[in-house]
Amino acid sequence: MENPFRAGMRLRRVPPPATLVILGVTGDLARRKLLPSLYRLFRKGLLPPGSAILGVARRDWDDEKFRNMVREALDRFVGKGQDERMWEGFAAMLFFCAGDLVDAEAYRTLDDTLISVDAHGPRNGNRLFYLAMPPSTYLDVIDGIGRHGLAGRRGAGWTRIVVEKPFGRDLESARSLNRTLGQWFSEDDVFRIDHYLGKETVQNILVFRLANAIFEPLWNSQYVDHVQITVAEDIGIEQRATYYEEAGAMRDMIQNHALQLLALVAMEPPITFAAGPVRDEKVKALMALRPLGGLEVDKAVVRGQYGPGLSQGEAVVGYLQEEGVAQASTVETFVAMRVFIDSWRWAGVPFYLRTGKRLPKRCTEVAIQFKRPPLPLFGEDVAAETEANVLAMHIQPDEGITLKIASKVPGPTVHVHSVNMDFRYGSSFGAAADAYERLLLDALLGDSTLFARGDGVEVAWAFVDRIIERWRHVDAPGPRIYEAGSWGPKAAEDLVDADRREWRRL
Ligand code: BG6
Repeated sequence: MENPFRAGMRLRRVPPPATLVILGVTGDLARRKLLPSLYRLFRKGLLPPGSAILGVARRDWDDEKFRNMVREALDRFVGKGQDERMWEGFAAMLFFCAGDLVDAEAYRTLDDTLISVDAHGPRNGNRLFYLAMPPSTYLDVIDGIGRHGLAGRRGAGWTRIVVEKPFGRDLESARSLNRTLGQWFSEDDVFRIDHYLGKETVQNILVFRLANAIFEPLWNSQYVDHVQITVAEDIGIEQRATYYEEAGAMRDMIQNHALQLLALVAMEPPITFAAGPVRDEKVKALMALRPLGGLEVDKAVVRGQYGPGLSQGEAVVGYLQEEGVAQASTVETFVAMRVFIDSWRWAGVPFYLRTGKRLPKRCTEVAIQFKRPPLPLFGEDVAAETEANVLAMHIQPDEGITLKIASKVPGPTVHVHSVNMDFRYGSSFGAAADAYERLLLDALLGDSTLFARGDGVEVAWAFVDRIIERWRHVDAPGPRIYEAGSWGPKAAEDLVDADRREWRRL
């Protein structure tokens, strides 16, 4: 008989009707991502009749005005010419509640509105709060929800909360957020978003590793020389200077997205694919990260900041010239680092991570670089011209997986050339759903497998905090300037060069 914990993964999952309360619904995230994703779920029949979406924001709007805003957002981010009947069905689910969540009054109005919205549908009191507000408001708003009796269960219904990134700005603030959440919600009802975990290609890391018999035996220090994780972006900081000046690449990308990718590559197989076992193993992998602090940081971590240059052929300004950036800001827009995972599986294997803005292209990749064969059977010169095997998981764009292998060049002599075995998602499966679509669906279903757990977030902050602490020291080398449109400062090349390795050319 099949293990009951492993059965049912292929079942189509439709959540029960619920009221989704989007706090901060007039913001960019809601317009660009949340509302379009909810509409797509509705179109696929995954947002059942009886569901409701209650937008909350300060504006003095009514339901009608909110519906107009949603219509505009869908025209822009899903596409014009949506089926009218479909839109009408979706529009009927939309409600608005005006209120400034710094006032106690706003929570009372929200409570009243929720009661009246709930009265119109079979929602059994199921509620999902989505915090799409500025992070500085999180603590007060979570507390407000709790103190005004909105976090508790209603009859048979559930109340859950989704918290957007960034989850704190250091270990201390993350702990305090976790504590406040824990005061009003149980851990099972808290969904900390890291949208990278909703990407199909990221989910596939575990499937690829564990649904194929041939890779996992090689997935360790005996066969793997090193791992490279690149999260490159060609965009600059766009209009987000206020946020970015407080964050920088270490907090914005490494603490969450890059370390989540690392955890998926490095973790041990979970006993089942349920939230508990999967997240247990991920947290263990993060706990095994060898801490970097003090002078070690100068050797193992490079920070950079983009100067003026070219992006996709267009002249662009440097970080210091971006609007809203402090004149002598030392905020990093690039990080490259060498880390080790002190576990049985990965002892001695370096993991190189790099991320940056204004790099030559948008490209996220995880590459497993294997060791060379034990003997140069075809001669030293053939061995020298042969590259080691690389398994590259292309997370985005051009989603796919490539295995680099050595092959004989046809002819009477032995010449070896590296060639690629290629799998492309697009040609095999067509377009994938947006990450937010999957994550919203899972939160409505109560499945937190693809969300960060409180302890994991804290472990990641503890690791990152030590590095940032070193950077605050007067002796620490400041960020190196790199030209926009390049692959970062030379010091990043030197970091891998010192280990006789190279960054992959992407
Ligand atoms: C966000 C960061 O979490 O991820 C942004 O705050 C970054 O700075 C974005 O641009 C990248 O996401 P994606 O899905 O475009 O790779």
